[in-house]
Amino acid sequence: MNYKEQIDLTKVPKHIAIIMDGNGRWAKEHNQPRIFGHSKGVVSVRDVVEGAGEIGVKHLTLYAFSTENWNRPKLEVTALMQLLVSTIHKEAENLNKNNVRLSAIGDLSSLPDSCLKELNNAIAKTSNNSGLNLILALSYSSKWEITNAIKNIINDVENKKLIPTQINENTISDYLCTKNIPDPELLIRTSGEIRISNFLLYQIAYSELYFTDKLWPDYRKNDLFEAVVNFQKRQRRYGLTEEQIIAE
Ligand code: IPE
Ligand code: IPE
Ligand code: MG
Repeated sequence: MNYKEQIDLTKVPKHIAIIMDGNGRWAKEHNQPRIFGHSKGVVSVRDVVEGAGEIGVKHLTLYAFSTENWNRPKLEVTALMQLLVSTIHKEAENLNKNNVRLSAIGDLSSLPDSCLKELNNAIAKTSNNSGLNLILALSYSSKWEITNAIKNIINDVENKKLIPTQINENTISDYLCTKNIPDPELLIRTSGEIRISNFLLYQIAYSELYFTDKLWPDYRKNDLFEAVVNFQKRQRRYGLTEEQIIAE
C-alpha cells in the first residue's frame, strides 16, 4: 500500500526520531558479517531522509551510535566509524542538493579525528540549507546528556548566570543537546525491540511511540509514511479527557 497519499500534510510531525535497529540480525539472515548490515542500513537512511523531506518534516533525529555501542567488538566499532566517515563524505553533496542541513548530538569529542573532521565539514557545508534538519545522534546517550546538563546548570548557577528559583522545564531543555529543537512528536524503533535504549529520555516524555518488526536495512520511506499515518490516527490527550480534547 502507498501510505503517502493517506498523510494529512497539514498535520505532519515537526520532529521525528528513529532508533535504527536490526542491522546485525539482517546481516545474519543474509549469511553476511554484521558490518554488511550496517552498510545496507545507509540505503535506508538515504531513502528515509528523502521521504521525511517530501512530507515536510522539519527535524529528523537518527540514533546512529550510542555510548553503549563503544563496548561492541573493536572490529565492529572500527568498521562502523569508517562507514560513518565514508558515508558522510559521499552524502554531503547529496544533502546539499536536497537542501538538508546536517547537525549532530552526542559526545562528539569521543569520535575518531577523521570522523569528527568529516562530520564538521558536512555540517559547515550544509549549514545554510533551509530544508530538513537531519540530526545524527553519535556517541549519544540520554543519561550522558542529562548528566552534562546538570553539571552545566550547576556551573551557571555558581557563576550567577542562572538563578535557581527561575529554573523550570524549559531551562532543562535549554541545557540538553536538542536545545532549540522541538521535542519529537513521534519516535519510531525498528527491529521489534520494545525499548528506548538510552535515547532522548527527557525529550520523549509525551512522544507517540511506534514500533515495527522491520529490520532497519529493509526500512524505506513508505514505512515512515505508514508510521506517520498511524500517528495521525492517534488522539494526544496530555492528561486531559477525550471530551476536553474534542471541545478544544
Ligand atoms: C543498529 O543495528 C545499528 C547500531 C546500533 C549501530 P544493530 O547493530 O544493533 O543490529 P542488531 O540489533 O544486532 O540486529
Ligand atoms: C540502539 O540500538 C542504538 C542505536 C540504534 C544506535 P542497540 O542495538 O545498541 O540497542 P540495544 O542494545 O538493543 O538496547
Ligand atoms: Mg541492535
